[in-house]
Amino acid sequence: MNHCSSIDEGRGPLDRHATDSRTLYDDRGADVLPTDGDGPIVNMGLWRRADGSEPATLYEANLALFDHCIDRAEIRDDSSVLDVGCGFGTAALRVARRTRARRVVGVNVSSVQLALARSAARANALEDRVAFVEASALSLPFERASIDHVLSTEAAFHFADRARFFREAARVLRPNGSLVVADLVPAPARNGLERRALAQIAEALAFPSDNALSLEAYRASVERAGLELRSFERIDRDVVGPFRRWMLRNALRHKHAARDLRAWPYLVYPLQYVLFRATRS
Ligand SMILES: C[S@@+](CC[C@H](N)C(=O)[O-])C[C@H]1O[C@@H](n2cnc3c(N)ncnc32)[C@H](O)[C@@H]1O
Repeated sequence: MNHCSSIDEGRGPLDRHATDSRTLYDDRGADVLPTDGDGPIVNMGLWRRADGSEPATLYEANLALFDHCIDRAEIRDDSSVLDVGCGFGTAALRVARRTRARRVVGVNVSSVQLALARSAARANALEDRVAFVEASALSLPFERASIDHVLSTEAAFHFADRARFFREAARVLRPNGSLVVADLVPAPARNGLERRALAQIAEALAFPSDNALSLEAYRASVERAGLELRSFERIDRDVVGPFRRWMLRNALRHKHAARDLRAWPYLVYPLQYVLFRATRS
């Protein structure tokens, strides 16, 4: 995996949505969601494992989502892996532990999350295989055809231009390299009420309203990036529904509960959740 000559080449000025995401996540630090002391959590989790068992906590559901994505990616021995929008680095560290990947790099715009990710890599004695880089998904600081696998879990909905991220992934992937993405895809608003709800969620959770898409349009944007879709699953039933129930039970004990009230329509707005694997020819 070759970096461009300078990591700064990949950073450039951040767009407004990347800056909003960075502010959202930097402000919250390790407290994005209530954790019960399990370690920081920043996704909705997958609440049914491949063997049919059900995670008991949000943290376990997070790990189940990472494991599902890692299994889908079919990570080859001695390969290089990029995790884009890597949160606290939990998935990148899990890739290092569960596979024989040679090098795993997490990319993020949140310097607070990156600092926590780096200390987790040190605490797990994995710094020789796992690194974290501050950069935007839309301008990855890696050379063309230099990476074997790109992963991204529950991050692409934040990106100012998701289609551009798919093109960036296609650019950095080696031939036969794979992209595995788990993504929250709000459905397009159907009326004035939904348009207002979508605008409110988009503002509170730092994503562009334009990222609300039909799944047909979503799939087309992956294919237009020069990637071949190998699988495309809709997993909202095992992600969005259980997470909403968990949130209703737990939100009030979260220290950011009052702030989160701004985002309350996401408990009812139609949210699709997809997991796909695509390869670069
Ligand atoms: C909902 S969190 C998911 C984090 C992690 N992948 C996980 O599943 O736990 C979204 C992540 O995307 C990052 N992010 C948002 N916009 C980004 C951008 N333009 N480039 C890189 N990372 C970004 C955020 O800082 C945050 O870490």
